[in-house]
Amino acid sequence: MSALPATTPFGDGTSKPQTPSLPRLLAGIPAEGAMTLEEHLAEHGAPPLQLGQGRRSDRDRAERLIDEIDAAGLLGRGGAAFPTATKMRAVARSRGRAIVLANAAEGEPASLKDRTLLEALPHLVLDGGMLAAQAVGADELVICVCESFGAGSQSLGEALQERAETADYAEFDRLARVRLTTVPGHYVAGQETALINHAGGGPAKPLFTPPMPFEQGLRRRPTLVNNAETLAHIALIARHGAAWFRQLGTPTQPGSALVTLSGPVAHPGVYEIEHGASLSSLIEAGGGTTAGLRGALIGGYSGAWIGAERLRGIALSNEYLAAHGAALGAGVVLLLSDEACPVAETARLARWLSGQSTRQCGPCVHGLDALATAIEQIAGGDGGGRAAQRVERLASLVLGRGACRHPDGTVNVLLSAVEAFPAEFADHGRRGPCDRCAGAQELPLPRRPLPPDPARRARVRLGAQR
Ligand SMILES: Cc1cc2nc3c(=O)[nH]c(=O)nc-3n(C[C@H](O)[C@H](O)[C@H](O)COP(=O)(O)O)c2cc1C
Ligand code: SF4
Repeated sequence: MSALPATTPFGDGTSKPQTPSLPRLLAGIPAEGAMTLEEHLAEHGAPPLQLGQGRRSDRDRAERLIDEIDAAGLLGRGGAAFPTATKMRAVARSRGRAIVLANAAEGEPASLKDRTLLEALPHLVLDGGMLAAQAVGADELVICVCESFGAGSQSLGEALQERAETADYAEFDRLARVRLTTVPGHYVAGQETALINHAGGGPAKPLFTPPMPFEQGLRRRPTLVNNAETLAHIALIARHGAAWFRQLGTPTQPGSALVTLSGPVAHPGVYEIEHGASLSSLIEAGGGTTAGLRGALIGGYSGAWIGAERLRGIALSNEYLAAHGAALGAGVVLLLSDEACPVAETARLARWLSGQSTRQCGPCVHGLDALATAIEQIAGGDGGGRAAQRVERLASLVLGRGACRHPDGTVNVLLSAVEAFPAEFADHGRRGPCDRCAGAQELPLPRRPLPPDPARRARVRLGAQR
């Protein structure tokens, strides 16, 4: 195993590419297999060590990293776009030794970004997790990986081995013990308290809050839960700084993001985009569309539909998407072809999301089931205007009434479908199923893999600049 390059000692954090270009996270991604530690160091340089031997200056350095992440404006990539530094500060200031959980559960069936990071770029996630642990004063890093990510777990195991055999890295990793744990592949398992519950030996079901994870999470210790991609960005911000991070993106959503593009495009896969990139440039990077479009689902299965007539000129940043009731969420961009029926697809999605409830909260169990039934009635032509009103009424009864945000996300995506495809919903309510209802089912449910794609990795590459 080679030693770290002498020109990039731990602690200086000056190794860079400093150019405002893409790719960043996906730079140097190998065509297959995982990036080795040697390749990782050649691509990114060594990470700056935040903590040393328990010296007083250690705390200042840890705080400086959180300040840098704050200045970078990094927002979480697990779906809610929560400011990462705010959460880190809350954990760092809570009483007791902290724990960091890297969330790579990726319960979103239309997302592949976290799986890609773990399989191909495990050292970026590990560097970010270690740096986050050092910054919040954690002595444990738990990497939570979906049980279906066999290759991701293997890459991580091999990466840990490489680090243990490299003296400087072993020193860097010494401050926090790393543990891998697998998470069931259902949709809610990646919710942060479900993850904490499961990592602590319980079921992967959300816990009722308070206490909040930053106060009392895993083993009642302050717990920082961050998405795998968020941690990967931390790994680069710690090296190159906030100003570098902000060279891409928009003022309120700086930096780049991993986006999983799927549906009728020539090359579905994971792309790295600059926030604010146009949807059309992403589709172009994906080789263009292979069919006419009916609409796009942005953000994931708790995200929002935008009808085809409003897709022109869409920019992929939250401040722009907000006007369409959407957000980039977990980085999902799923295109629906005009061969599919959006009402039938919405009915399938509603039933699937209802089946993902962990059945702990009445409004979620009964409300989502009733919502799915009402949408199925519209799709079947049984209910007309009354069923549409029922959807609205049920949605208002469910919103904000769960221990987690699964019901809210479900209501969001279902109502957005009704709004994006008004003519189709009205037609189905009056006349029943259309010709396309029995056609191809395009939404991947439950974990149907994205289209078979042997050369997927080759297309996991830079995406669109603006
Ligand atoms: C139903 C549900 C499912 C979720 N699934 C995931 C997931 O698979 N992966 C993930 O990173 N975050 C998921 N989240 C968000 C997490 O609760 C949490 O906000 C996130 O991991 C925090 O990381 P971030 O701040 O880096 O985004 C989910 C949230 C909900 C409500
Ligand atoms: S809101 Fe639904 S998914 Fe969330 S904890 Fe309650 S029952 Fe489970």
